[in-house]
Amino acid sequence: MNLKEEILRLKKEKNAIILAHNYQRPEIQDIADFIGDSLELSMKAKETDADIIVFCGVDFMAEVAKIVNPEKKVLHPEPKAKCPMAAMLKPEMILEAKRRYPNAKVVLYINTTAKCKAYADAICTSANAVEVVKNIDSDIVIFGPDVNLAYYVEKRTGKRIIPIPEYGHCRVHIMFEPKDVWEARKKYPNAKLLVHPECIPEIQEEADEIASTGQMIKKACLHDEWVVFTEREMCYRLSKIYPNKKFYPAREDAICINMKRITLEKVYESLKYERFEVKINEEIMKRAKIAIENMFKLMKK
Ligand code: 13P
Ligand code: SF4
Repeated sequence: MNLKEEILRLKKEKNAIILAHNYQRPEIQDIADFIGDSLELSMKAKETDADIIVFCGVDFMAEVAKIVNPEKKVLHPEPKAKCPMAAMLKPEMILEAKRRYPNAKVVLYINTTAKCKAYADAICTSANAVEVVKNIDSDIVIFGPDVNLAYYVEKRTGKRIIPIPEYGHCRVHIMFEPKDVWEARKKYPNAKLLVHPECIPEIQEEADEIASTGQMIKKACLHDEWVVFTEREMCYRLSKIYPNKKFYPAREDAICINMKRITLEKVYESLKYERFEVKINEEIMKRAKIAIENMFKLMKK
């Protein structure tokens, strides 16, 4: 059986759409109808008229697809594909921070569970975090779970950011160290540095461009050679879009194993048996949806 052909056949038969994050395996990217960053994927999920959304990414992304389009059947081919950073924030931490800072607003990174989003005033992604925090109606903002994105936002908004938890981070992005910058500069003297804001401040300070994965695609047109400080598969995505430019992963071992849990076999089985359906408690879904909608409103200000 040719898995790729079978997936395409089932997709057509069931009027399904395959959404994939930029870190997905090349063979998944190749069968996807749409590939993007967290923000682009949430927008695509909201507007689709397909009957089924097969979401190739991690848990919180599939949850967002369900929340913005609750009438659709949203399938996550491998429920074990969970973002460890999202799991670092618990609702109790938000409630505790709200008790300590009663006048602060809560802005949560999209990398959170639906249960946490239900307690947020708004959510944000790495593409719009600065815009959302700037436009929210408070000078003190409780922000979680990524402390490195919190640093990036605080620097650009001048607002007081209260990070929750104090240690929230992405295991993949904190792998990048100053020595990776020195080595990149030595090895590729003509290249510029493209950096994700989940990287530590020392790496952010060295960047030529700081961008979400979607913004990296837009920024890449500015130069012909880049060293990319994010998950390694991003270079596959960039090279496909710009075959004449050069993209080097800053570290070969910067791999998000959770993103890689989605395989062609799992996508095929997901479509065939219509599993694993994303289910979220109605009340949580309603409240999380308000926080997501607030993000879209704050982007338009
Ligand atoms: P993007 O929204 O930039 O794609 O980031 C998502 C993510 O999980 C990065 O690790
Ligand atoms: Fe989560 Fe990091 Fe993987 Fe992104 S790269 S999904 S933040 S673990």
